Amino acid sequence: MISIKEPVSGDNFVNRLDLLKNLHLIYPTDNVALIGPRRIGKSSIAEQFLRTLPDKNIIKFRFDVQENNRSPGLLAMQLLRFFMFAYYEEVIKKDAYEIADMEINPNVLLEASLDLSSKTLQKLSLFLISYYPPTPDNEREVLRRILSFLEDFSAEMETKTVVVLDEFQDIIDLNKYKGFKNGEILGFLRGIISKQNRVWYLFTGSAVRLMIDIFGKADSPFLGRVRKFNVTRFNKDDTIQLIYKCIKRPITSEALNFLFALSKGHPFMPMCFNPCFNGCHSGSLTPFLFCSFPVCFNPCFNGCHSGSIIIENRYNHFCMFQSLF
Ligand SMILES: Nc1ncnc2c1ncn2[C@@H]1O[C@H](COP(=O)(O)OP(=O)(O)OP(=O)(O)O)[C@@H](O)[C@H]1O
Ligand SMILES: [Mg+2]
Repeated sequence: MISIKEPVSGDNFVNRLDLLKNLHLIYPTDNVALIGPRRIGKSSIAEQFLRTLPDKNIIKFRFDVQENNRSPGLLAMQLLRFFMFAYYEEVIKKDAYEIADMEINPNVLLEASLDLSSKTLQKLSLFLISYYPPTPDNEREVLRRILSFLEDFSAEMETKTVVVLDEFQDIIDLNKYKGFKNGEILGFLRGIISKQNRVWYLFTGSAVRLMIDIFGKADSPFLGRVRKFNVTRFNKDDTIQLIYKCIKRPITSEALNFLFALSKGHPFMPMCFNPCFNGCHSGSLTPFLFCSFPVCFNPCFNGCHSGSIIIENRYNHFCMFQSLF
């Protein structure tokens, strides 16, 4: 079953071909931002892009800024953890359990640096051991060192790195910490990122206005430095393709039209129908829809979706749907 909780990729991923083609054309020259509302499919596109990168010698991973947004130093430590895990798992194909404790015990990084014969990791480990745990005074330096390390380590290991910074707009929260008090976080990041040749960034964000400000406002340090793409809703063909991935039974064109109208091209909506069609129902679709449809749709309308789909007259819809099968 296709998840609605997690981003999807691989066989479950539908379309976005033009966007993916553009990403592949631009990579690794300019950094890119994907901007679009909640649940539109940004993280899935990012995951699919990572999956379809041809070069095997790449450290690649998706890092959710929102989920890891603590102090600058702790965020940086999490980023480093993702990076090292990706290196172990993607490039040298080794289990990364040795460095699992790095956030509470940076000594394990020193051991890893010997294991990997890495001078850059050794240097960073010694720094982190002496400065760890981060205090308000050294937060900025921890973040700077770790971001710079991504480039230095990639050069040392002759790899490239692709980092997806998901929900990037939340990085602005770091401005409340000492070291970034004057709202400098974007300028600080730009200063480091713009010097990097081996690390490529894909920023995604669902706070559309904030993302537009970050990458397009006249006084933003990122102005004109990142290629922006809007992630839009699915067209009818894509929606139908998605519905066929969810519904393992024949479906009439009227029903497809109806589902497209109902979903309005939001890719996660057909997934919400999935259990209704394939799971809880085993016989004829008609009576099931008539009696259970509202229950199955409930989470979609009240929970994950925030209101752009309005069912004005549910009863009419059920009757309409019923007549289609
Ligand atoms: N291209 C796609 N193919 C198949 N399913 C998709 C696709 N895009 C989105 N979905 C469906 O929509 C759900 C939400 O997608 P995703 O997590 O990528 O969106 P998002 O824009 O990153 O959401 P959020 O703003 O909450 O982070 C997925 O779990 C999946 O069910
Ligand atoms: Mg996402």
